[in-house]
Amino acid sequence: MNRKQITGASQTGNKAETFEAADNIPANPDLSRTIGSVIATRYGRRNMLKGMLGVSAAAALFGAPALTAARQASAAAAAARSRYVFDELEAGVDETHHVAAGYDADILLRWGDPITADAPEFDVMNQSAEAQLQQFGYNNDYVGFLPLNAEGSRGLLCVNHEYTNEEVMFPGLGRQDKAEFTGMTKELVDIEMAAHGGSVVEIARNADGKWHVVRNGKLNRRISPLNTVMGIDGPAAGHPRMQTSADPKGREVIGTLNNCAGGMTPWGTWLMAEENFHGYFWTDQLDADGEPDVTGQAEARQMQRYNVPSMWYAWGKYHDRFDIAKEPNEVNRFGWVVEVDPRNPEARPVKHTALGRFAHEGAETTLSPDGRLVIYMGDDARFEYVYKYVSDGAVSEDRAANSRLLSKGTLYAARFDPDGSLHWLPLVHGHGPLTAANGFASQADVLIDARLAADALGATPMDRPEDVSPRGDGTAYVMLTNNSKRKPGQTDAANPRAESDFGHIIEIKEENGDHAATRGRWSILVQCGDPGIAAVGAQWNPDTSENGWFASPDNSAIDAGGRLWVATDQGRRWDKTGKSDGLYGVETEGSLRGHSKLFFRCPVGAELCGPYFTPSGETLFLAVQHPGTDGTRNLKGFERDSTFEDPATRWPDFDPQMPPRPSVVVVTRQGGGKIAT
Ligand code: FEO
Ligand code: CA
Repeated sequence: MNRKQITGASQTGNKAETFEAADNIPANPDLSRTIGSVIATRYGRRNMLKGMLGVSAAAALFGAPALTAARQASAAAAAARSRYVFDELEAGVDETHHVAAGYDADILLRWGDPITADAPEFDVMNQSAEAQLQQFGYNNDYVGFLPLNAEGSRGLLCVNHEYTNEEVMFPGLGRQDKAEFTGMTKELVDIEMAAHGGSVVEIARNADGKWHVVRNGKLNRRISPLNTVMGIDGPAAGHPRMQTSADPKGREVIGTLNNCAGGMTPWGTWLMAEENFHGYFWTDQLDADGEPDVTGQAEARQMQRYNVPSMWYAWGKYHDRFDIAKEPNEVNRFGWVVEVDPRNPEARPVKHTALGRFAHEGAETTLSPDGRLVIYMGDDARFEYVYKYVSDGAVSEDRAANSRLLSKGTLYAARFDPDGSLHWLPLVHGHGPLTAANGFASQADVLIDARLAADALGATPMDRPEDVSPRGDGTAYVMLTNNSKRKPGQTDAANPRAESDFGHIIEIKEENGDHAATRGRWSILVQCGDPGIAAVGAQWNPDTSENGWFASPDNSAIDAGGRLWVATDQGRRWDKTGKSDGLYGVETEGSLRGHSKLFFRCPVGAELCGPYFTPSGETLFLAVQHPGTDGTRNLKGFERDSTFEDPATRWPDFDPQMPPRPSVVVVTRQGGGKIAT
């Protein structure tokens, strides 16, 4: 790791881009097993894509002009047959959001909106941690909805606040260099901490079908890394590696951070996934190049495998627990999945160590035919793994017993073989290489060092696994967002493109339709990017329109009709597509398999998170994250990084005194009815 990679700020304009730049350093050391499968990729897999001849390949065969006329006719016919019934939105980039005709996309909750009875009104020029702890946090990511009545007209919105962008959040500050943090103060750090975590907010539907926030809702609350005490359970709870000076028992931790995607359990609790936790740890122990030096650390090997400390925030300068020299075990207490009971503010959130420690993207739940809980999870970094957790027991009517299902079960990592078979490799101490001789003295070690355990088992290093969305029939869809660092010799059947800027989606079919199975089959649903550029190597249903193809699948959802919806995050690269991030309906069945259709798009510089459908299918919640920040240096006419004073958009307020605000958008159909039917 060299100085340029660590400090990176001169090359990257905001936190999201920094996350990605830092992620350029593959921490996974063993990629050798993927070498040599290029042939299988190039030829063997083609058969599995029959009926999905890419537009670029079709153009090569038939010539572009002939294709255009034929394609227009066939695209129109496909649109008529699509299971996603709406008029496709036009792709593009501008300063606001857009939804398909016939739908409303209203702003429901913005960063800073008061969410408790005592909360002060938002005053962007006079922010404080105390106020922020009663207001909606920053960078909304996962959104879940828990109905509070039978009609589903009242409910709790559960929203993750992943991270903060100081340059558009605070006046006069600008982007902070992670080595020096010259403008940061403890006061600003505490506001950042208060803006992380999550929000529980009661919302209700009016007679006219519109939703509003119930500001005085008794269950409304904030969860933050500043002051929310959480329990730790599962095999790693209490282990010496989990003990700190503040918590000598290793069973209690303050807060959660970088909560990216998540999930809701069948018993109505909320799972918050801790993703890029390594970025919050700091040190002043630097090597001769000025880089963080962990060589004196007892856990140097583990820290290096997890890129700790990455020093993206100054928290460790003011809070000793984020300084690895002062509190080296604190980092072992982050990178987990947290369970929150939104209906019981008195219940402490719990970090469930049985689900493993890595850069958790999401935690989507489903059930096996015998009622066991299955949770699919991605480790969002280049060359990391897809995981799933299967509980020992079955879900029942007993809510307390159900939460114990997250304490006892088996964690697996996925191996995607070139013949299309899928193998789930158990991370169980004593099995195979997971022994003391290889550095795993107990199940606690296996879980705390889940990446090292999955390395030892030979799981398949993937192109940044993001959300994994299961469907009840034993199918799951894996979003693989991109991986520009995979070299030609490192491609394999499941990650077939080198230097992939645009990502792909893998479909998993578990054996016998059982999500708890340890084997299954896999295939590629789509390879993303512009199908009109042969070098991109995109694979879409050829009837996908110019508006319908996308890049960098990130979050996803399956609606009540079993249809797949995909939200995108292109990072800084949206100049390579000329499109904003958005939400797409992607066909998974029949002759339209691999057909994609644009439903919603974000304002400039934002990524789209959520998405979440209410059980009735009549409301869709979307989280527009970091508006105005990504890729603006390449935006024609702007060509600079956004700041508080000079942002690329002031969405959603368009008030000259207000910077852009991450916000949750609620989509409903004009005149009522289920979405896209
Ligand atoms: Fe927080 Fe993988 O996006
Ligand atoms: Ca994400």
